[in-house]
Amino acid sequence: MIAYILSAVIVLASLWMVFGRTRNLPPGPMGLPLVGSILTLRKYQLLHDGLADLRTVYGDVFSMRLGSRLFVVLNGYDAIREAFVGQSDHFSDRPEMLSMWKAITNHGRGIVGSSGSRWKKSRKFAQGVLRHFGITTRKANLERQIQEESRYFVDAVDNTNGKPFEPALLITGAVANIINSLVFGERTDYGDEETEKFLGLVDRIVKLSLKAGAVDVIPLVKYVSPSYKEIVICMEQIFAFVKKKIEEHRQTFDPNDIRDFIDMYIQEVESSKLSGSSLSLDDLDMEAAIKDFFFAGIETTSIGLTWAFMYMVRYPEIQKRIQRDIDRVIGKTRQPCLADEEELPYVTATMLEVLRIASIAPTAAPHCVAEDTTLRGYNIPQGTIVIPHIRSVLFDPKLWPEPEKFNPERFLDKDGKVRRFDEHIPFSTGNRICLGEHLAKMEFFLFFSSLLQQFTFTIPKGAEPPNMTPLYGVGLKPSIYKLCVERR
Ligand code: HEM
Repeated sequence: MIAYILSAVIVLASLWMVFGRTRNLPPGPMGLPLVGSILTLRKYQLLHDGLADLRTVYGDVFSMRLGSRLFVVLNGYDAIREAFVGQSDHFSDRPEMLSMWKAITNHGRGIVGSSGSRWKKSRKFAQGVLRHFGITTRKANLERQIQEESRYFVDAVDNTNGKPFEPALLITGAVANIINSLVFGERTDYGDEETEKFLGLVDRIVKLSLKAGAVDVIPLVKYVSPSYKEIVICMEQIFAFVKKKIEEHRQTFDPNDIRDFIDMYIQEVESSKLSGSSLSLDDLDMEAAIKDFFFAGIETTSIGLTWAFMYMVRYPEIQKRIQRDIDRVIGKTRQPCLADEEELPYVTATMLEVLRIASIAPTAAPHCVAEDTTLRGYNIPQGTIVIPHIRSVLFDPKLWPEPEKFNPERFLDKDGKVRRFDEHIPFSTGNRICLGEHLAKMEFFLFFSSLLQQFTFTIPKGAEPPNMTPLYGVGLKPSIYKLCVERR
């Protein structure tokens, strides 16, 4: 009996796949019944290598099934732009995927995981908050906060006394404090127990969701996957922590003294209740948006900075040139500020090159098609999951000759001024472009220049140069490595 049912399922799945191919979908691998192309991709240690190989066979827009879901992968700047900018209304939803969705998005709330009008409202509100605290407009408020954090960061690095240390730990502490200050209105000491526990949960979920990925495309796996079960437990702990913080804010809320993101959200939730609008933001949205800032805003930025210091020890002559520029423009005692960026084009060029070569989010975050549409003459049905292969743009040899080579000069023009490229899209493009791009760049410039002003980074005596092969996490991150500093 079981054998009959199994054969029937396989036959139906095969027919479905063949039928799917006749619906004028973008070309792509046929895959196997039930699992689709999962096994093809599993052969690759880094997903983007698999996507790059499939592109050479099927072209810039290709499709494949992974389990029960249809995926379309967009390669190259033109294809990504045609979909995300040219047809933003069709390509801006997020897929509802089990492991990520219900547990991680608080049932489709917040910014990263929501869709449609609720996403628009949540995103617009969060943008307003960032503007209020001086991020999207680059006003002084958050700049002062990052400068203050840079002083703690410099002290912590100084305390390593020339001994080898893991930069990623201190970088994460500093970056987390910027989000802590923005969202909770306070910073914590590096190594603070509660913050470490919270960040540990975020990190654990990221690791687990890589293991529990199959749940997203083969839903039945959820009943047997210990990783998925642990994700749900960790998420409950995260939301419990966030709820506690919101409650503490409610107790001390003063409409005349709005301290942070939570206060602004409380104000919005209360005024929405009074207005009785049909689509008002509520506590579920607030909890999910807070969680989004911690998931999207910490590891990404700290990975970027960690890569930056890694490139400095690999390319000491680039480090020296940056230090000479900082000495000339700022000197050794005044703290760097954002206004210095104009005079330090080589620092900005280095930052842009790190963001390109590290390609921290090689496939950004999955989008989903809101209603049936077409792209380059192919049908893209509603519910298709769309993967923008960002790394295919950041490593396109037509745009960046010798793309594997670390070369900040490519971001300078003949007059030594910063050269910007539309195709430089480490933060993605279109309506869903990263909400924290300006904040990340502010942090990058201020932390990076403050540290290089004070220290020279080196490889510990006798150690091998750091391994530049990335590992998968929230983004492509460097393997753990230690370095040393010398006070300048
Ligand atoms: C170097 C650092 C960062 C990189 C490379 C990065 C990259 C990205 C990428 C590729 C996306 C997906 C865009 C898409 O779906 O097409 C994204 C989304 C997002 N990022 Fe960032 N990000 C960084 C830092 C930050 C920071 C500091 C914040 C804090 C506010 C942040 C908040 C977000 C949010 C809220 C979204 C979801 C946007 C939406 O769905 O509408 N990111 N980011």
